[in-house]
Amino acid sequence: MRRKTALDLQQLKADRQRIAMVTAYDYTMARIVDAAGVDMVLVGDSLGMVFQGHADTLSVTLEDMAYHGRCVARGLQQAHLTVDMPFMSYQVSPQQALENAGRLVKEGSAQSVKLEGGQRSAPAIQSIVEAGIPVVGHVGLTPQSVNAMGGFKVQGRGEQAAQQLMEDALAVQRAGAFCVVLEMVPAQLAAEVSAQLDIPTIGIGAGPDCDGQVLVCNDLLGFDSRFKPRFVKRFAELEEPMVEATRSFVEQVRSGEFPGPEHSFKGKSGPRKVAKLY
Ligand code: KIV
Repeated sequence: MRRKTALDLQQLKADRQRIAMVTAYDYTMARIVDAAGVDMVLVGDSLGMVFQGHADTLSVTLEDMAYHGRCVARGLQQAHLTVDMPFMSYQVSPQQALENAGRLVKEGSAQSVKLEGGQRSAPAIQSIVEAGIPVVGHVGLTPQSVNAMGGFKVQGRGEQAAQQLMEDALAVQRAGAFCVVLEMVPAQLAAEVSAQLDIPTIGIGAGPDCDGQVLVCNDLLGFDSRFKPRFVKRFAELEEPMVEATRSFVEQVRSGEFPGPEHSFKGKSGPRKVAKLY
């Protein structure tokens, strides 16, 4: 089996097939979502929030992204791997962007990189693409600009903002990105952008007419029952069963029920070689 390429993903739009993308941050989750048949796995800098527990993504480093990229890559057989460029790893200059994108390929096993911003990020995108590294754009709500945007808010509302968003998406395409994430954008505007662009759009909080959809794996699987924004659909509610399973473990350890004889080893004939555990 081979991993999907940027060209395969572009072909999906040409074939009018929707693209399914999900985030993953470790080997086990990567193995699970790959087996489920997702087309793209994103090592998102959302890991700063759902993995590291920060309030935003701003403190995530290039080293963090490379580390999680390597972990995820080992779990993938067929899905394409995109790794996010973290805050301040591409904004300084196109040269800086290219050097750090190269590091995510070499040290983070990325097949492509994703970076935020429309017109303002076009020179960085162009410089990375010219070096042969595929780029995913990201417009609309760009969480690395949370302080400038005044929070995690819907973008592109009103005529002027909608026009700016369309221009941003077109700038990302012109700069050479092979697809673009539209985050927290009114559904009608996302539909118009998707119809206007040749490259696939991947929506999150951007309605049903994008060429694909992305969700954070923790949201999709319901790992945190406290977090339920409008754009998230939970396809499972796993927090409660995981707490329950762990509670049973705690009870059985305390009562002495676990481990039973079936989990224990006999030692009469001396030490034996134990079969490989993992
Ligand atoms: O960091 C991330 O997980 C993302 C997705 C929400 C698109 O950028």
